[in-house]
Amino acid sequence: MDYQSLLEEVAAHVAPQIGQGEPAQYIPALASVDPRRFGIALADVDGTVTGVGDWEVPFSVQSISKAFSLALVLEQDGERIWRRVGREPSGNPFNSLVQLEYENGIPRNPFINAGALVVTDRLQTLTGDASTTMLEFLRAESGNPDVAFDQVVAASEAEHGDRNAALAHFMASYGNLDNPVPTVLEHYFWQCSIEMSCRDLALAGGFLARHGLRADGSRLLSPRQAKRINAVMLTCGTYDAAGDFAYRVGLPGKSGVGGGIVAVIPGRCTLCVWSPGLDARGNSVAGLAALDHFTTLTGWSVF
Ligand code: DON
Repeated sequence: MDYQSLLEEVAAHVAPQIGQGEPAQYIPALASVDPRRFGIALADVDGTVTGVGDWEVPFSVQSISKAFSLALVLEQDGERIWRRVGREPSGNPFNSLVQLEYENGIPRNPFINAGALVVTDRLQTLTGDASTTMLEFLRAESGNPDVAFDQVVAASEAEHGDRNAALAHFMASYGNLDNPVPTVLEHYFWQCSIEMSCRDLALAGGFLARHGLRADGSRLLSPRQAKRINAVMLTCGTYDAAGDFAYRVGLPGKSGVGGGIVAVIPGRCTLCVWSPGLDARGNSVAGLAALDHFTTLTGWSVF
């Protein structure tokens, strides 16, 4: 398969949509990113990576980090996390508070903010330094030692973090956080601020396409655990757009408000697309269109 031509065709097809939508406005450090950026990368299960456009330009991973924190917690702690977080789509925006009260402080899934805060809390308990553990993991899997936190984005998010603080305090009131709220928030903001390119993320998500095997061939997760993360990505990875994402793309996917989306074709490859213009539900407009066209051209959806 000539991946280079395939990705070029995808990029050409979505060119009219690049620049549509708006970069995330609620984190000032993200609002200033040029919405006309577009990159896409494909990492084969053997680690060969191909890309077009801005595929080597680092961007803020934001909620894509939630797939990695879940993987690290499942690796270290098995299935215990599911006592504290569900795995049903929420049908609500990623930062919504409404379900938490009538569901007794147990978030619907690990990818909405409330659920991700619980996962980060667990990773903090397990490792003593959740965000550094994740950074080191991402450096190793991407093979890029320059992957780093973006201090401006982390500080910006902390400054505008009232909603996440409310979610964390509310869950703490139900006894669903083990660490102090400021500690959990700090690690969550740091993990979201990590900067990576499409190239880095496609490689780092390779274990999800390799049924749990890391880039060096060692085992991170069992095939069953990798399947489970992919399943939750499919059903919850794009929040209240997960149904539409499954309908259009038909792959497990995890988006972030930095404009990135990672999508997995189990047994074959991991894709990452980036374009900062977001739709109303916080997903990249051109990114979604690109993945839609990719699966249309190749027929490689999971369905
Ligand atoms: O918690 C937040 O608001 C952000 N750091 C992450 C949100 C995010 O990426 C949601 N994704 N689409």
